[in-house]
Amino acid sequence: MSRKVEKIISLEEYQYAELTLADQELIREAKVAANNAHAPYSQFKVGAALRLKDGRIVKANNQENASYPVGICAERVALAYAFANDSKAVVSAIAVVARKQDAPETVPVTPCGMCRQAISEYETKQSSPIRILMEAPEGRVYVSANIDNLLPFKFSDNDLK
Ligand code: THU
Repeated sequence: MSRKVEKIISLEEYQYAELTLADQELIREAKVAANNAHAPYSQFKVGAALRLKDGRIVKANNQENASYPVGICAERVALAYAFANDSKAVVSAIAVVARKQDAPETVPVTPCGMCRQAISEYETKQSSPIRILMEAPEGRVYVSANIDNLLPFKFSDNDLK
């Protein structure tokens, strides 16, 4: 007889103006970062901004390639940059935004599966959760307290033990 195995996931939804000023800044900086995306193939410009524990912000964007699979998502460029330059970095939050090439407005977006896995890896590395801020429909923002809400039943270092 089978039994149901369930995991509850939960996100907080905010109006942009309800966010802390620090979180508002993170989203604004992700939007700035999206402007420098190299996305000539998808025309989908993604910006990511990380808040480090010391308050600093690291920005990045998607970097595509004529050989499509070589392209890298904004989130992973930002995370790789942060940890490449400081192996002891602690990321407290990541904001992700996206817009179509020439559109002034951003569209709702959530991290792709590969980026979720990468965020999970860095949570493990730094032994603390990474909050994830994502633009949602109608000017709202979803906030996840950690990667588990976006990656239930995740594969991690524990599975290798
Ligand atoms: N992309 C990101 O940068 N982050 C995501 O989480 C979703 C997808 C990029 C990859 C590719 O350059 C473009 O968006 C279209 O998929």
